Amino acid sequence: MSRVQKAIAVLAGDGIGPEVTRAAVSVLEECASALGHRFDFIALPFGGIAIDRCGEPLPAETLDACRKADAVLLGAVGGAKWDSQPLNRRPEAGLLGLRKELGLYINVRPVKLLGALRAMCPVRLDEGETIDMEIVRELAGGIYFGPRQSSGSNGDEIASDMEVYSAKEIERVALYAFRRAAARSKRLASIDKANVLASSGLWRRTVERTAKGFPEVKLDSLYVDNAALQLVLRPAQFDVMLTSNMFGDILSDEAAALAGSIGLIPSMSLGNGTALYEPIHGSAPQLAGKNSANPIGAILCAAMLLRESFGLPREAMAVEKAVEHTLAAGFRTPDIVRGGSRMIGCSEMAAQIRAAVAESAMETEKYGWGV
Ligand code: NAD
Ligand code: IPM
Ligand code: MN
Repeated sequence: MSRVQKAIAVLAGDGIGPEVTRAAVSVLEECASALGHRFDFIALPFGGIAIDRCGEPLPAETLDACRKADAVLLGAVGGAKWDSQPLNRRPEAGLLGLRKELGLYINVRPVKLLGALRAMCPVRLDEGETIDMEIVRELAGGIYFGPRQSSGSNGDEIASDMEVYSAKEIERVALYAFRRAAARSKRLASIDKANVLASSGLWRRTVERTAKGFPEVKLDSLYVDNAALQLVLRPAQFDVMLTSNMFGDILSDEAAALAGSIGLIPSMSLGNGTALYEPIHGSAPQLAGKNSANPIGAILCAAMLLRESFGLPREAMAVEKAVEHTLAAGFRTPDIVRGGSRMIGCSEMAAQIRAAVAESAMETEKYGWGV
């Protein structure tokens, strides 16, 4: 078994960010000590807490350490305390700056309905149907980064944000989505609003041109309003979904609800720099400090990190299996609790998952990875 040594920048952030990140770090520590790897965790100020401590949401030392690390693990940022700041000085601006500075233009959000949580799905699934999809969201362009203007005052104000995409920006994320689809069920749904928006027209034409290089993948282009409808009507029809920055933000929260809770969904961001892993949920201020946030999204980020950044697929699978095992044993955080299951807190959920990881590591030591 090859042992690895890696440095992970940890940006816990605000609200429930520190609680769920602590859970994910503890699972990675368990993996490392059980299987002989060495992970060095570098905790860094980021988001609202960094505004309070350093005067800005993305301090230069944080960005620098992220560039140097082997991977970045992020919790969530934001909260009422900073909501009155101008947009460019808010915690969320630090997150957008980090994605931009690291050149992260691809964001993958896997939405999978886990077996033990099937009853949590709010829509009816036919027998044999399930939800197992990946949203590939463009992350470094579009309306989030286009020209922004505000003018006027006293009830006569005007504000605008512009959706801007170049064919190159669309093509590079589309290429990734086609490759991802080619490796899965060979179906790709590309989401746009090409019946109304010029930027979406370019999106559709570019995706259709990119499709020519992937004859084995069946491409469907859908308008975003219909995609939102179809997701709820028949989510099982989707495999890989390709979206712009803003449409992906919205559709991934909707898809998360279908999997049982937004607290369950991880994501990874890839591009030119260090890869970044963050659950898709926010800082959930109303849950902060109560030990009741669901840490599974953050813990599944750890699994994605192990597989995609550290080349440790078996460790990743051990974490994913540990999550499924813990849920199958009936343990639930409050967001996914149902009759007959046992409600536990964020830290207890992490402890259960760690124990399941340790158990599968022990079996690995005894019998090898084959079991
Ligand atoms: P949110 O995702 O924080 O919360 C939405 C709902 O989901 C709430 O009901 C919350 O209680 C629940 N929820 C979220 N995460 C959960 C978890 N792990 N376990 C159980 N329940 C969970 O979104 P919001 O309320 O719109 O935003 C709150 C703050 O977070 C805002 O400041 C927003 O800008 C910020 N935000 C940050 C990120 C990020 O850092 N990646 C993402 C989204 C929102
Ligand atoms: C997300 C969040 C962020 C986004 C915000 C906080 C900037 O909602 O990662 O889903 O819109 O990308
Ligand atoms: Mn979001």
